Amino acid sequence: MTPVQPGILAPVPRLARYLTFELLPGGDVRGALGRLPAAIDPSTTVVGLGRSLVLALGRDVRGLRDFPARAGAGIEVPSTPGALWCWLRGDDRGELVHRTRALEAAVAPALRTVAITDAFQYDASRDLTGYEDGTENPSGDDALAAAALAGAGPGLDGSSFVAVQQWLHDLDRFSRLSQAEQDATFGRRRSDNEEMDDAPSSAHVKRTAQESFDPVAFVVRRSMPWAEGARAGLVFVAFGRNFDAFEAQMRRMAGEEDGITDALFGFTRPLTGAYFWCPPVGPAGKLDLSAVGL
Ligand code: HEM
Repeated sequence: MTPVQPGILAPVPRLARYLTFELLPGGDVRGALGRLPAAIDPSTTVVGLGRSLVLALGRDVRGLRDFPARAGAGIEVPSTPGALWCWLRGDDRGELVHRTRALEAAVAPALRTVAITDAFQYDASRDLTGYEDGTENPSGDDALAAAALAGAGPGLDGSSFVAVQQWLHDLDRFSRLSQAEQDATFGRRRSDNEEMDDAPSSAHVKRTAQESFDPVAFVVRRSMPWAEGARAGLVFVAFGRNFDAFEAQMRRMAGEEDGITDALFGFTRPLTGAYFWCPPVGPAGKLDLSAVGL
């Protein structure tokens, strides 16, 4: 059995919930985290620990760092750290609500939810703009190699680092673009998902082409649309064996290499940005928190 949390490598579910928890002062962090493995099933819930939580346990995980805030021409990429992140995967919204409540109870009072975002799959994994998302994801052994640590020792092998950003779309603005302008924003045609040979260098897939980086920058993206009232967008989620690939892509999207910002910023912006370490699972299929002393 590969010790990776199974939800990381599985296709995106029909529905999901993202929970971000904060640490409350004076709480029994060790007790709260100790109750976590019994409270979740790793095949349906992916868990990530923020750096503040790992430090509160008196440990550090090599490679777990703070999400870097950046600014580009007219754009902000904010950093909004969290202590604990849970991605609840499912297909029944009511069940996700009850799983949320059970999880909150398990880690209280040391940890408390600060954000809950409901997400869903649109058609066959499209962003709300209608463009297919996830096409160039590595699969099989390549996905495992991109997303999980290997050769780092027990408790760390099979763990993963995840970058999470909630993006808010201005869909009215996007819909005012012509079809050609929309395609040029992504660098792919919405009609058949083919990559455009003549895409401008601001096109999203030109900015992020994983093989164009040195070293190559592969990640496993598991993003899902979200909507709440009239607001909607994408929860961008990228798993890696470290944060380097994500950071190289984000730097280029923000125009730090050549002054060209990603055309995506013309209609969407990140509201949040955080990094988490996703522990491996042990032989019994439960979260293995031995790397943080539990
Ligand atoms: C609102 C935000 C975003 C939207 C709507 C979006 C959407 C898309 C779409 C439609 C594709 C083309 C199909 C595919 O290969 O998946 C794509 C590709 C990709 N995106 Fe994004 N994306 C967003 C943010 C990001 C961010 C923040 C990053 C990393 C910093 C990123 C990294 C990538 C990568 C690596 C690819 C594949 C490039 C390749 O190797 O061809 N995306 N994205």
